Parts: sequence; structure tokens; C-alpha cells
Amino acid sequence: MGWSTWLFLSLMMTGLLWGCGEGADQEVVETADPQPVPQEVLAIVQKGECLDCHVLDGQGIHEGPSLNRVGARLSAEQLRRKIVNPAAFPAQGYENLAGRMPTDFQERFTQEELALLVDHLASRR
Ligand code: HEC
Repeated sequence: MGWSTWLFLSLMMTGLLWGCGEGADQEVVETADPQPVPQEVLAIVQKGECLDCHVLDGQGIHEGPSLNRVGARLSAEQLRRKIVNPAAFPAQGYENLAGRMPTDFQERFTQEELALLVDHLASRR
């Protein structure tokens, strides 16, 4: 084989490797959450220490359900109810962990904080 054949083959290989690399990257992009948390909502989430037990936008601990797409499962009304009174209903598939979530968010959050938090979570679908 002449050098031009080798050059052609190595270019092909490079192309293939690049192709695979891109495929892998895309998978990461698809699983990453595309909805960032606005700063004022993140401050409320940190105040409530939600990330001690929940995953949100790539942060936190997966004990309770991920909050990334919680708006697709629960309405704003249900979210508010769950946050102020976690005993109201257990999360689907997490019934065995019912009772883990703190019950004092109603006192810890102002009405405004609660509204901002609920609005944002409801928008995450
Ligand atoms: C000490 C751990 C802990 C903390 C802190 C915590 N949670 Fe939870 N949460 C859980 C667990 C466990 C569940 C699942 C069992 C249940 O439904 O009670 C849950 C369930 C939920 C659900 C229901 C999700 C679904 O898919 O039905 C929502 C919404 C939620 N939490 C929001 C929050 C928010 C918002 C905060 C912060 C203000 C927070 N949680 C803080 C442990 C926690």
C-alpha cells in the first residue's frame, strides 16, 4: 500500500473515533437536566436543605425522588401540599421512605419563598 492509502485509512479511523466520541457526548447531554435553577430559587432550596435528599439540576443526593422533572408528575397545588405537609401523600415508588421529609417548611419559608419554589418546581417537566 502506498502512503496515500495509509493516509486515507488513518483519516477514516480518526473520523470513526470522532463519531463515537460525539455519540457518547450526546448521551451525556440528553441525561443532563436542561433547566437551570434560578438563583433566587436555589437560595430557597438551600435554606430548606432539599438537596440533602433530592437531586436537582445535577446537584444533591438521591434519597427521595429527583426533582428534575417533578412538575410532570405533580401539579403546583400538589407540590405545595407535599412541601407544607409531607404526610399528605407519599411519592410514588418511595412509599417506604414516607416520614423522612421534614414537616416544618411551612414555618421555615415565607409565603413568598414557598410561592417561588412551588412555581419553579411545577415548571420543571
Ligand atoms: C431529610 C430528607 C428530605 C428533605 C430535607 C427534603 N425531602 Fe422531599 N422527600 C424526601 C423523601 C424520602 C421523599 C419520598 C417519600 C415521601 O413522599 O414522603 C420526598 C418526597 C418529596 C416530593 C414528592 C416527589 C414526587 O415525585 O412525588 C417533593 C415534591 C419533595 N419531596 C420536595 C422537597 C423540597 C422542595 C424540599 C426542600 C424544601 C424537600 N423535599 C426536602 C426526603 C426529603
